[in-house]
Amino acid sequence: MSLIVVSNREPYSPRVLDGGQVAWLPSIGGLTSALDPVMQRMGGSWIAWGEQFPGVGRVQLPVTNPRYTVERLVLSSEEVDAYYYGFSNRALWPMCHYFIERARYLQSNWEAYRDVNERFADAAARQYHPGDLIWVHDYQLALVPGQLRERLPDARIGMFWHIPWPAQDVFRTLPWDAQILKGMLGADLIGMHTPSYVRHFLSACESVLGLEVGRNTVVWEGRTVQVQSRPIGIETATFEELAASPEVETLSSRIRQGLQTMMLLGVDRLDYTKGIPERLEAFDAFLDAYPDLRGRVTLVQIAVPSREEVESYAQLRSQVEGLVGRINGKHAQNGWTPIHYVYRGLSREELVAHYRAADVMLVTPLRDGLNLVAKEFAASSRDGVLLLSRFAGAASELPEALHVNPYDHDGLAQAIHAALHLPLDEKQLRLKQLRERLEHDDLGRWTEAFLHELSLPDTLPDALL
Ligand code: UDP
Ligand code: G6P
Repeated sequence: MSLIVVSNREPYSPRVLDGGQVAWLPSIGGLTSALDPVMQRMGGSWIAWGEQFPGVGRVQLPVTNPRYTVERLVLSSEEVDAYYYGFSNRALWPMCHYFIERARYLQSNWEAYRDVNERFADAAARQYHPGDLIWVHDYQLALVPGQLRERLPDARIGMFWHIPWPAQDVFRTLPWDAQILKGMLGADLIGMHTPSYVRHFLSACESVLGLEVGRNTVVWEGRTVQVQSRPIGIETATFEELAASPEVETLSSRIRQGLQTMMLLGVDRLDYTKGIPERLEAFDAFLDAYPDLRGRVTLVQIAVPSREEVESYAQLRSQVEGLVGRINGKHAQNGWTPIHYVYRGLSREELVAHYRAADVMLVTPLRDGLNLVAKEFAASSRDGVLLLSRFAGAASELPEALHVNPYDHDGLAQAIHAALHLPLDEKQLRLKQLRERLEHDDLGRWTEAFLHELSLPDTLPDALL
Protein backbone atom coordinates (compact mmCIF):
# COMPACT_ATOMS: atom_id res chain seq x y z
CA MET A 1 0.00 0.00 0.00
CA SER A 2 1.32 3.39 -0.80
CA LEU A 3 -0.01 6.90 -0.23
CA ILE A 4 -0.82 9.30 -3.06
CA VAL A 5 -1.40 12.88 -1.96
CA VAL A 6 -2.96 15.33 -4.42
CA SER A 7 -2.90 19.09 -3.79
CA ASN A 8 -2.60 22.26 -5.80
CA ARG A 9 0.38 23.71 -3.91
CA GLU A 10 3.67 21.80 -3.94
CA PRO A 11 5.55 21.39 -0.65
CA TYR A 12 8.80 23.05 -1.77
CA SER A 13 9.20 25.68 -4.47
CA PRO A 14 12.39 25.96 -6.52
CA ARG A 15 14.18 29.33 -6.42
CA VAL A 16 17.42 30.48 -8.06
CA LEU A 17 19.84 31.77 -5.44
CA ASP A 18 22.34 34.62 -5.99
CA GLY A 19 25.12 32.16 -6.88
CA GLY A 20 22.91 30.61 -9.59
CA GLN A 21 22.16 27.33 -7.74
CA VAL A 22 18.57 26.19 -7.34
CA ALA A 23 17.21 25.78 -3.81
CA TRP A 24 13.92 24.08 -2.96
CA LEU A 25 12.38 26.28 -0.26
CA PRO A 26 9.34 25.26 1.82
CA SER A 27 6.10 26.74 0.46
CA ILE A 28 4.24 28.89 2.99
CA GLY A 29 0.71 27.94 4.00
CA GLY A 30 -1.12 25.63 6.36
CA LEU A 31 -1.67 22.78 3.89
CA THR A 32 1.98 22.25 3.00
CA SER A 33 3.14 22.84 6.61
CA ALA A 34 0.91 19.97 7.67
CA LEU A 35 1.46 17.51 4.84
CA ASP A 36 5.23 17.71 4.37
CA PRO A 37 5.96 16.04 7.74
CA VAL A 38 3.26 13.46 7.03
CA MET A 39 4.90 12.55 3.72
CA GLN A 40 8.37 12.62 5.23
CA ARG A 41 7.20 9.98 7.65
CA MET A 42 5.03 7.87 5.33
CA GLY A 43 6.75 8.20 1.94
CA GLY A 44 4.74 7.93 -1.30
CA SER A 45 3.87 10.31 -4.13
CA TRP A 46 2.57 13.84 -4.01
CA ILE A 47 0.96 15.28 -7.14
CA ALA A 48 0.97 19.10 -7.28
CA TRP A 49 1.24 22.06 -9.61
CA GLY A 50 4.88 22.77 -10.52
CA GLU A 51 4.66 26.55 -10.57
CA GLN A 52 8.30 27.43 -11.26
CA PHE A 53 10.74 25.36 -13.36
CA PRO A 54 8.06 23.42 -15.26
CA GLY A 55 10.83 21.39 -16.95
CA VAL A 56 11.37 19.48 -13.68
CA GLY A 57 8.63 16.85 -13.85
CA ARG A 58 9.52 14.75 -10.86
CA VAL A 59 11.63 15.47 -7.80
CA GLN A 60 12.59 13.58 -4.65
CA LEU A 61 12.10 15.75 -1.55
CA PRO A 62 13.33 17.15 0.72
CA VAL A 63 16.48 17.44 -1.41
CA THR A 64 18.84 17.03 1.56
CA ASN A 65 17.13 13.84 2.75
CA PRO A 66 14.73 12.51 0.11
CA ARG A 67 11.68 10.79 1.59
CA TYR A 68 8.97 11.06 -1.04
CA THR A 69 8.36 11.92 -4.71
CA VAL A 70 6.63 15.00 -6.05
CA GLU A 71 5.04 14.65 -9.48
CA ARG A 72 4.85 18.20 -10.83
CA LEU A 73 1.98 19.07 -13.14
CA VAL A 74 2.62 21.79 -15.70
CA LEU A 75 -0.24 24.27 -16.14
CA SER A 76 -0.41 26.87 -18.91
CA SER A 77 -0.67 30.53 -17.91
CA GLU A 78 -4.30 30.51 -19.15
CA GLU A 79 -5.06 27.55 -16.91
CA VAL A 80 -3.42 29.23 -13.94
CA ASP A 81 -5.38 32.44 -14.53
CA ALA A 82 -8.74 30.73 -14.81
CA TYR A 83 -8.40 27.70 -12.52
CA TYR A 84 -6.14 29.01 -9.73
CA TYR A 85 -6.67 32.77 -9.64
CA GLY A 86 -10.08 32.84 -11.31
CA PHE A 87 -12.16 30.05 -9.85
CA SER A 88 -10.21 28.85 -6.78
CA ASN A 89 -9.24 32.26 -5.44
CA ARG A 90 -11.85 34.64 -6.88
CA ALA A 91 -14.87 32.36 -6.42
CA LEU A 92 -14.45 29.49 -3.94
CA TRP A 93 -12.03 31.14 -1.49
CA PRO A 94 -14.07 34.33 -0.87
CA MET A 95 -17.39 32.46 -0.86
CA CYS A 96 -16.25 29.83 1.67
CA HIS A 97 -14.89 32.63 3.91
CA TYR A 98 -18.23 34.50 3.74
CA PHE A 99 -16.90 37.32 1.52
CA ILE A 100 -19.53 36.90 -1.19
CA GLU A 101 -19.21 40.54 -2.24
CA ARG A 102 -15.67 39.68 -3.41
CA ALA A 103 -16.69 36.51 -5.26
CA ARG A 104 -16.76 36.50 -9.09
CA TYR A 105 -18.63 33.62 -10.66
CA LEU A 106 -17.58 33.23 -14.30
CA GLN A 107 -18.59 30.26 -16.46
CA SER A 108 -15.23 30.24 -18.29
CA ASN A 109 -13.33 30.01 -14.99
CA TRP A 110 -15.59 27.19 -13.84
CA GLU A 111 -14.90 25.26 -17.05
CA ALA A 112 -11.15 25.69 -16.64
CA TYR A 113 -11.41 24.56 -13.02
CA ARG A 114 -13.27 21.40 -14.08
CA ASP A 115 -10.72 20.67 -16.82
CA VAL A 116 -7.66 21.26 -14.62
CA ASN A 117 -9.23 19.04 -11.94
CA GLU A 118 -9.46 16.34 -14.65
CA ARG A 119 -5.75 16.70 -15.25
CA PHE A 120 -4.98 16.17 -11.55
CA ALA A 121 -7.35 13.15 -11.53
CA ASP A 122 -5.57 11.70 -14.58
CA ALA A 123 -2.19 12.14 -12.93
CA ALA A 124 -3.37 10.46 -9.72
CA ALA A 125 -4.99 7.59 -11.63
CA ARG A 126 -1.71 6.99 -13.50
CA GLN A 127 0.14 6.66 -10.18
CA TYR A 128 -2.42 4.36 -8.62
CA HIS A 129 -1.97 0.65 -7.90
CA PRO A 130 -4.69 -1.45 -6.26
CA GLY A 131 -4.50 -1.09 -2.49
CA ASP A 132 -3.08 2.44 -2.54
CA LEU A 133 -4.78 5.24 -0.62
CA ILE A 134 -5.46 8.48 -2.48
CA TRP A 135 -5.76 11.63 -0.39
CA VAL A 136 -7.01 14.77 -2.17
CA HIS A 137 -6.66 18.18 -0.52
CA ASP A 138 -8.59 21.40 -0.46
CA TYR A 139 -10.88 23.67 -2.41
CA GLN A 140 -8.74 23.90 -5.55
CA LEU A 141 -9.49 20.20 -6.23
CA ALA A 142 -13.10 19.64 -5.14
CA LEU A 143 -14.01 17.72 -8.31
CA VAL A 144 -11.04 15.34 -8.23
CA PRO A 145 -12.61 12.68 -5.94
CA GLY A 146 -15.61 12.29 -8.30
CA GLN A 147 -13.40 12.29 -11.39
CA LEU A 148 -11.19 9.63 -9.78
CA ARG A 149 -14.19 7.52 -8.80
CA GLU A 150 -15.16 7.28 -12.49
CA ARG A 151 -11.68 6.05 -13.34
CA LEU A 152 -11.10 3.87 -10.26
CA PRO A 153 -14.43 2.63 -8.89
CA ASP A 154 -12.82 0.53 -6.14
CA ALA A 155 -10.12 2.91 -4.91
CA ARG A 156 -10.12 4.26 -1.33
CA ILE A 157 -10.27 8.03 -1.77
CA GLY A 158 -10.02 10.60 1.04
CA MET A 159 -10.62 14.32 0.81
CA PHE A 160 -9.57 16.97 3.32
CA TRP A 161 -11.17 20.41 3.12
CA HIS A 162 -8.78 22.89 4.79
CA ILE A 163 -10.97 26.02 4.70
CA PRO A 164 -14.37 26.81 6.25
CA TRP A 165 -17.52 25.26 4.85
CA PRO A 166 -20.03 28.11 4.94
CA ALA A 167 -23.67 28.20 5.92
CA GLN A 168 -26.12 27.14 3.22
CA ASP A 169 -27.34 30.59 2.20
CA VAL A 170 -23.77 31.52 1.37
CA PHE A 171 -22.85 28.25 -0.34
CA ARG A 172 -25.98 28.43 -2.48
CA THR A 173 -24.79 31.66 -4.09
CA LEU A 174 -22.40 29.45 -6.09
CA PRO A 175 -23.93 28.62 -9.47
CA TRP A 176 -22.13 25.24 -9.49
CA ASP A 177 -23.10 24.21 -5.94
CA ALA A 178 -24.43 20.78 -6.98
CA GLN A 179 -21.36 19.95 -9.08
CA ILE A 180 -18.96 20.82 -6.24
CA LEU A 181 -20.87 18.60 -3.80
CA LYS A 182 -21.07 15.70 -6.26
CA GLY A 183 -17.35 15.99 -6.94
CA MET A 184 -16.49 15.78 -3.26
CA LEU A 185 -18.87 12.87 -2.69
CA GLY A 186 -16.65 10.75 -4.92
CA ALA A 187 -14.54 10.33 -1.75
CA ASP A 188 -15.08 7.63 0.89
CA LEU A 189 -14.10 9.95 3.72
CA ILE A 190 -14.28 13.75 3.84
CA GLY A 191 -12.45 15.55 6.67
CA MET A 192 -13.04 19.11 7.86
CA HIS A 193 -11.72 21.19 10.76
CA THR A 194 -14.85 21.73 12.90
CA PRO A 195 -18.20 20.09 13.64
CA SER A 196 -20.00 23.17 12.31
CA TYR A 197 -18.31 22.92 8.88
CA VAL A 198 -19.44 19.26 8.80
CA ARG A 199 -23.01 20.24 9.68
CA HIS A 200 -23.06 22.92 6.99
CA PHE A 201 -21.70 20.48 4.41
CA LEU A 202 -24.27 17.82 5.25
CA SER A 203 -27.13 20.29 5.17
CA ALA A 204 -25.95 21.43 1.73
CA CYS A 205 -26.09 17.77 0.58
CA GLU A 206 -29.62 17.63 1.92
CA SER A 207 -30.90 20.88 0.45
CA VAL A 208 -28.96 21.07 -2.83
CA LEU A 209 -28.90 17.38 -3.79
CA GLY A 210 -31.95 16.20 -1.84
CA LEU A 211 -29.90 13.45 -0.14
CA GLU A 212 -30.65 11.77 3.12
CA VAL A 213 -27.92 12.50 5.64
CA GLY A 214 -26.92 11.03 9.01
CA ARG A 215 -24.94 12.72 11.75
CA ASN A 216 -21.68 11.99 9.94
CA THR A 217 -22.68 10.21 6.78
CA VAL A 218 -24.39 10.69 3.47
CA VAL A 219 -25.28 8.03 0.93
CA TRP A 220 -24.31 8.85 -2.63
CA GLU A 221 -24.59 6.54 -5.63
CA GLY A 222 -24.89 3.48 -3.41
CA ARG A 223 -21.81 4.29 -1.28
CA THR A 224 -21.78 5.63 2.27
CA VAL A 225 -19.55 8.68 2.46
CA GLN A 226 -18.28 9.64 5.91
CA VAL A 227 -17.94 13.30 6.77
CA GLN A 228 -15.87 13.87 9.91
CA SER A 229 -14.55 16.76 11.94
CA ARG A 230 -10.79 16.14 12.20
CA PRO A 231 -8.88 19.36 12.98
CA ILE A 232 -5.22 19.19 11.94
CA GLY A 233 -2.60 19.12 14.65
CA ILE A 234 0.98 20.33 14.53
CA GLU A 235 4.25 18.57 15.29
CA THR A 236 4.06 19.80 18.86
CA ALA A 237 7.26 18.16 20.13
CA THR A 238 9.26 19.56 17.20
CA PHE A 239 8.08 23.11 17.95
CA GLU A 240 8.76 22.69 21.68
CA GLU A 241 12.29 21.47 21.00
CA LEU A 242 13.07 24.12 18.43
CA ALA A 243 11.70 26.85 20.71
CA ALA A 244 14.04 25.74 23.51
CA SER A 245 17.12 25.46 21.25
CA PRO A 246 20.10 27.82 21.74
CA GLU A 247 19.82 29.11 18.12
CA VAL A 248 16.23 30.20 18.61
CA GLU A 249 17.03 31.59 22.07
CA THR A 250 19.76 33.80 20.53
CA LEU A 251 17.53 34.96 17.68
CA SER A 252 14.69 35.70 20.04
CA SER A 253 16.86 37.76 22.42
CA ARG A 254 18.10 39.70 19.39
CA ILE A 255 14.50 40.49 18.40
CA ARG A 256 13.72 41.68 21.95
CA GLN A 257 16.86 43.79 22.14
CA GLY A 258 16.00 45.39 18.79
CA LEU A 259 12.61 46.48 20.13
CA GLN A 260 13.39 47.42 23.74
CA THR A 261 9.64 47.27 24.45
CA MET A 262 6.91 44.70 25.04
CA MET A 263 6.01 42.89 21.83
CA LEU A 264 2.73 42.09 20.12
CA LEU A 265 3.00 39.76 17.12
CA GLY A 266 0.90 39.06 14.02
CA VAL A 267 1.94 36.41 11.46
CA ASP A 268 -0.25 35.94 8.40
CA ARG A 269 -0.29 35.49 4.67
CA LEU A 270 -1.38 38.88 3.39
CA ASP A 271 -4.99 37.79 2.93
CA TYR A 272 -8.20 39.76 3.54
CA THR A 273 -9.56 36.86 5.61
CA LYS A 274 -6.86 37.39 8.24
CA GLY A 275 -8.22 40.67 9.62
CA ILE A 276 -4.94 42.61 9.38
CA PRO A 277 -6.45 46.11 8.81
CA GLU A 278 -8.88 45.50 11.69
CA ARG A 279 -5.95 44.46 13.93
CA LEU A 280 -4.01 47.60 13.02
CA GLU A 281 -7.09 49.74 13.77
CA ALA A 282 -7.42 47.99 17.12
CA PHE A 283 -3.76 48.73 17.91
CA ASP A 284 -4.39 52.37 17.03
CA ALA A 285 -7.40 52.36 19.41
CA PHE A 286 -5.21 50.72 22.06
CA LEU A 287 -2.58 53.48 21.80
CA ASP A 288 -5.34 56.11 21.99
CA ALA A 289 -6.93 54.46 25.02
CA TYR A 290 -3.73 53.78 26.99
CA PRO A 291 -1.34 56.70 26.33
CA ASP A 292 0.96 55.58 29.18
CA LEU A 293 1.81 52.51 27.08
CA ARG A 294 2.99 54.52 24.05
CA GLY A 295 6.67 53.82 23.61
CA ARG A 296 6.36 50.66 25.72
CA VAL A 297 4.62 48.25 23.30
CA THR A 298 5.47 47.48 19.66
CA LEU A 299 3.41 45.50 17.16
CA VAL A 300 5.50 43.32 14.82
CA GLN A 301 3.40 42.29 11.82
CA ILE A 302 4.81 39.62 9.48
CA ALA A 303 2.88 39.70 6.20
CA VAL A 304 3.71 36.94 3.73
CA PRO A 305 3.08 37.93 0.08
CA SER A 306 0.21 35.88 -1.35
CA ARG A 307 -1.90 35.63 -4.58
CA GLU A 308 -0.83 39.09 -5.66
CA GLU A 309 -2.46 38.85 -9.08
CA VAL A 310 -5.92 38.90 -7.53
CA GLU A 311 -7.13 42.53 -7.15
CA SER A 312 -8.46 42.03 -3.60
CA TYR A 313 -4.95 41.04 -2.49
CA ALA A 314 -3.20 43.92 -4.27
CA GLN A 315 -5.72 46.35 -2.74
CA LEU A 316 -5.21 44.84 0.70
CA ARG A 317 -1.49 45.38 0.42
CA SER A 318 -1.87 49.10 -0.23
CA GLN A 319 -4.54 49.40 2.44
CA VAL A 320 -2.28 47.75 5.04
CA GLU A 321 0.78 49.77 4.04
CA GLY A 322 -1.30 52.96 4.19
CA LEU A 323 -2.55 52.10 7.68
CA VAL A 324 0.92 51.23 8.96
CA GLY A 325 2.18 54.60 7.69
CA ARG A 326 -0.74 56.51 9.20
CA ILE A 327 -0.55 54.85 12.63
CA ASN A 328 3.23 55.11 12.80
CA GLY A 329 2.99 58.78 11.77
CA LYS A 330 0.36 59.45 14.42
CA HIS A 331 2.02 57.78 17.44
CA ALA A 332 5.78 57.52 16.82
CA GLN A 333 7.95 59.27 19.43
CA ASN A 334 11.58 59.41 20.65
CA GLY A 335 12.91 56.79 18.27
CA TRP A 336 10.00 54.36 18.94
CA THR A 337 8.06 53.09 15.92
CA PRO A 338 4.73 51.53 16.98
CA ILE A 339 4.40 49.02 14.09
CA HIS A 340 7.25 47.04 12.53
CA TYR A 341 5.89 45.75 9.25
CA VAL A 342 7.78 42.90 7.57
CA TYR A 343 6.62 42.04 4.04
CA ARG A 344 8.20 38.61 3.50
CA GLY A 345 7.98 35.03 4.67
CA LEU A 346 10.14 33.82 7.56
CA SER A 347 12.02 30.53 7.87
CA ARG A 348 10.85 28.10 10.55
CA GLU A 349 13.69 29.19 12.94
CA GLU A 350 12.97 32.90 12.50
CA LEU A 351 9.27 32.28 12.96
CA VAL A 352 9.69 30.31 16.19
CA ALA A 353 12.11 32.96 17.49
CA HIS A 354 9.36 35.55 16.91
CA TYR A 355 6.80 33.34 18.68
CA ARG A 356 9.24 32.98 21.56
CA ALA A 357 9.95 36.71 21.76
CA ALA A 358 6.30 37.84 21.71
CA ASP A 359 4.37 38.83 24.83
CA VAL A 360 1.04 38.61 23.03
CA MET A 361 0.22 36.79 19.80
CA LEU A 362 -2.63 38.33 17.81
CA VAL A 363 -4.42 35.69 15.74
CA THR A 364 -7.48 37.68 14.73
CA PRO A 365 -8.83 36.44 11.39
CA LEU A 366 -12.30 37.50 10.27
CA ARG A 367 -12.70 33.90 9.15
CA ASP A 368 -10.17 31.04 9.02
CA GLY A 369 -10.51 27.31 8.38
CA LEU A 370 -8.30 26.48 11.36
CA ASN A 371 -5.13 28.63 11.76
CA LEU A 372 -1.95 26.71 12.46
CA VAL A 373 -0.05 29.82 13.59
CA ALA A 374 -2.18 29.86 16.76
CA LYS A 375 -1.17 26.29 17.60
CA GLU A 376 2.49 26.83 16.71
CA PHE A 377 2.66 29.87 18.99
CA ALA A 378 1.11 27.99 21.92
CA ALA A 379 3.63 25.16 21.47
CA SER A 380 6.59 27.56 21.27
CA SER A 381 5.90 30.34 23.76
CA ARG A 382 7.37 30.43 27.27
CA ASP A 383 4.97 32.85 28.93
CA GLY A 384 3.11 34.64 26.16
CA VAL A 385 -0.64 35.08 25.71
CA LEU A 386 -2.65 33.93 22.70
CA LEU A 387 -5.47 36.25 21.58
CA LEU A 388 -7.59 34.18 19.23
CA SER A 389 -10.49 35.21 17.03
CA ARG A 390 -13.75 33.41 17.66
CA PHE A 391 -13.97 33.05 13.85
CA ALA A 392 -10.87 30.84 13.54
CA GLY A 393 -11.59 27.10 13.38
CA ALA A 394 -8.94 26.57 16.08
CA ALA A 395 -11.04 28.55 18.61
CA SER A 396 -13.33 25.60 19.25
CA GLU A 397 -10.31 23.48 20.17
CA LEU A 398 -8.36 26.02 22.24
CA PRO A 399 -10.54 27.30 25.07
CA GLU A 400 -7.55 28.51 27.13
CA ALA A 401 -6.69 31.18 24.56
CA LEU A 402 -8.30 34.59 25.16
CA HIS A 403 -11.09 34.66 22.58
CA VAL A 404 -11.79 37.95 20.81
CA ASN A 405 -14.12 39.46 18.24
CA PRO A 406 -11.90 40.93 15.49
CA TYR A 407 -14.68 43.26 14.29
CA ASP A 408 -14.77 45.02 17.67
CA HIS A 409 -11.75 47.39 17.61
CA ASP A 410 -12.31 48.77 21.10
CA GLY A 411 -12.95 45.32 22.55
CA LEU A 412 -9.77 44.06 20.90
CA ALA A 413 -7.82 47.04 22.26
CA GLN A 414 -9.05 46.19 25.76
CA ALA A 415 -8.20 42.51 25.26
CA ILE A 416 -4.62 43.48 24.28
CA HIS A 417 -4.39 45.54 27.45
CA ALA A 418 -5.76 42.67 29.56
CA ALA A 419 -3.36 40.19 27.92
CA LEU A 420 -0.35 42.40 28.64
CA HIS A 421 -1.38 42.55 32.30
CA LEU A 422 -2.27 38.91 32.87
CA PRO A 423 -0.48 37.54 35.96
CA LEU A 424 2.47 35.28 35.16
CA ASP A 425 0.99 32.21 36.85
CA GLU A 426 -2.21 32.53 34.83
CA LYS A 427 -0.26 32.90 31.57
CA GLN A 428 1.77 29.82 32.38
CA LEU A 429 -1.27 27.79 33.39
CA ARG A 430 -3.11 28.65 30.18
CA LEU A 431 -0.07 27.73 28.07
CA LYS A 432 0.39 24.48 29.95
CA GLN A 433 -3.22 23.49 29.30
CA LEU A 434 -2.98 24.49 25.65
CA ARG A 435 0.20 22.48 25.26
CA GLU A 436 -1.34 19.38 26.81
CA ARG A 437 -4.06 19.50 24.17
CA LEU A 438 -1.55 20.06 21.38
CA GLU A 439 0.64 17.21 22.59
CA HIS A 440 -2.33 14.88 22.67
CA ASP A 441 -3.92 15.92 19.36
CA ASP A 442 -0.76 16.34 17.34
CA LEU A 443 -0.10 15.89 13.64
CA GLY A 444 0.83 12.21 13.98
CA ARG A 445 -2.48 11.44 15.64
CA TRP A 446 -4.42 13.35 12.98
CA THR A 447 -2.70 11.46 10.16
CA GLU A 448 -3.12 8.07 11.77
CA ALA A 449 -6.79 8.65 12.55
CA PHE A 450 -7.60 9.85 9.03
CA LEU A 451 -5.68 7.16 7.19
CA HIS A 452 -6.91 4.43 9.49
CA GLU A 453 -10.51 5.36 8.81
CA LEU A 454 -9.85 5.72 5.13
CA SER A 455 -8.33 2.27 4.91
CA LEU A 456 -11.29 0.55 6.63
CA PRO A 457 -12.97 -1.47 3.88
CA ASP A 458 -16.51 -1.02 5.21
CA THR A 459 -17.93 2.12 6.67
CA LEU A 460 -19.18 1.96 10.24
CA PRO A 461 -22.82 2.59 11.04
CA ASP A 462 -23.57 6.14 12.14
CA ALA A 463 -24.35 5.05 15.70
CA LEU A 464 -20.78 3.87 16.25
CA LEU A 465 -19.11 7.11 15.09
N1 UDP B 1 4.55 30.32 7.91
C1 UDP B 1 5.90 30.31 7.61
N2 UDP B 1 6.58 31.48 7.50
C2 UDP B 1 5.97 32.68 7.67
C3 UDP B 1 4.59 32.70 7.96
C4 UDP B 1 3.90 31.50 8.08
O1 UDP B 1 6.48 29.24 7.47
O2 UDP B 1 6.61 33.71 7.56
C5 UDP B 1 3.80 29.05 8.06
C6 UDP B 1 3.33 28.85 9.48
O3 UDP B 1 4.32 28.21 10.23
C7 UDP B 1 2.07 28.01 9.30
C8 UDP B 1 1.60 28.35 7.89
O4 UDP B 1 2.64 29.09 7.26
O5 UDP B 1 2.37 26.63 9.39
C9 UDP B 1 0.34 29.20 7.89
O6 UDP B 1 -0.74 28.37 8.18
P1 UDP B 1 -2.11 28.93 8.74
O7 UDP B 1 -3.01 27.75 8.95
O8 UDP B 1 -1.91 29.76 9.95
O9 UDP B 1 -2.69 29.90 7.61
P2 UDP B 1 -2.82 29.78 6.01
O10 UDP B 1 -1.68 30.54 5.43
O11 UDP B 1 -2.81 28.33 5.67
O12 UDP B 1 -4.12 30.44 5.68
C1 G6P C 1 -4.51 28.04 2.61
C2 G6P C 1 -5.16 27.02 1.70
C3 G6P C 1 -4.10 26.15 1.02
C4 G6P C 1 -3.07 27.02 0.34
C5 G6P C 1 -2.48 28.06 1.31
C6 G6P C 1 -1.50 29.02 0.63
O1 G6P C 1 -3.91 27.36 3.63
O2 G6P C 1 -6.07 26.23 2.46
O3 G6P C 1 -4.69 25.30 0.07
O4 G6P C 1 -2.02 26.24 -0.19
O5 G6P C 1 -3.53 28.82 1.87
O6 G6P C 1 -2.10 29.61 -0.50
P1 G6P C 1 -1.56 29.38 -1.99
O7 G6P C 1 -2.61 29.96 -2.86
O8 G6P C 1 -0.25 30.13 -2.04
O9 G6P C 1 -1.32 27.92 -2.21
